[in-house]
Amino acid sequence: MDRIVLDSPLDMHVHFRTGNMLKFVVPYTACNFAGAMVMPNTDPIIDNHYALCRYREEIKAACKDAFFEPYMTLYFQTSYTRQMLEECRQDVLAIKLYPRGITTNSGHGVLISDPEVETVLGYMTELGIPLSVHGETDGYVMRREREFMRTYERWAVKYPKLKIIMEHISTAEAVNVLGTYPNVFATVTPHHLLMTTDDLCGDMLRPHLFCKPLLKSPEDRAALQALVLGELSDELQRKVMLGTDSAPHAKNKKECDCGCAGVFNAPYALPSIVPLFVEKDKLPELQRFVSDNAKAIYGIDTLPKMVELHRESQRANAFLGHLVGPKDDSYVCVVPMYADQILRWRVRKTWVDPVRTKVVLPKSPLAK
Ligand code: NCD
Ligand code: ZN
Repeated sequence: MDRIVLDSPLDMHVHFRTGNMLKFVVPYTACNFAGAMVMPNTDPIIDNHYALCRYREEIKAACKDAFFEPYMTLYFQTSYTRQMLEECRQDVLAIKLYPRGITTNSGHGVLISDPEVETVLGYMTELGIPLSVHGETDGYVMRREREFMRTYERWAVKYPKLKIIMEHISTAEAVNVLGTYPNVFATVTPHHLLMTTDDLCGDMLRPHLFCKPLLKSPEDRAALQALVLGELSDELQRKVMLGTDSAPHAKNKKECDCGCAGVFNAPYALPSIVPLFVEKDKLPELQRFVSDNAKAIYGIDTLPKMVELHRESQRANAFLGHLVGPKDDSYVCVVPMYADQILRWRVRKTWVDPVRTKVVLPKSPLAK
């Protein structure tokens, strides 16, 4: 098989930042995906309806002519009232919870032990707003996700009607939790699916693969692969979505002492994961992973944007840089995942299916 067509790929976890960086990175996602769920850990954070709508406009402007739907999130705050959430409901796909201090711009995150967290979880359950979570404790870095499983389990049992999305899962334990609770779902990134701690620091240090949660063991990676390929069960496979966690940081903020966490994978996310599915003859599972599962879980639909990939070698750019404005500080330079390496697949073309466009109109992002 040398050519595949994906129907409306969705990236259910992406960081676009703001300003010059946003203008630079949005097109990489907007040209390869039909839509994406945008994270709210910007500076300042997205914590009210007005900021959310303005942020969506900023993203749409950066898409230019691309058919692309940004699905918006709010940054979980214990100060949210039921009325405020009710007012935002139509424009919010999920609320993203960050434990305080655990990753980029999580200084405004919550203390998991704060009883007010549950007050807001109660409102979200009543209003049917899904909870998206960066699930890590502040313990030993390789055990942080495992330690957070107790919190997921507690919430899953206490709020059976709340949809809980474990973002960027990286461990076999998370796969187990996914299989245990009907209201728990997950995203998986290309890097956690394809790489291990060895890729990050087994040989030389690769700062551009440093992210939260850290890349894990070969056994953890095998559990994630079995999950997305449907080797565990069909039911479990339907609970997992592609979320690239594409998280750009300027090159100099990664290649330094105290480098930032985040992998910028938007340019090569789809070509990087295709071989895993093609080699095992799992194309229906690929389609579900990159689109259908997210549509079912969040109750969304998009314009039918087709993305055609060919088996054709390409060398990934060593860096991507661009002058996005007239000032000196408007030069953006980021290093993508697989920089300067050969990828076996590439996106050849994208188009919006003209027949289905007539009948499928984008629905409002109302989660069921
Ligand atoms: C993300 C970022 O830089 O915003 N970084 C990361 O390592 N994944 C935040 C996050 O999702 O943790
Ligand atoms: Zn993220």
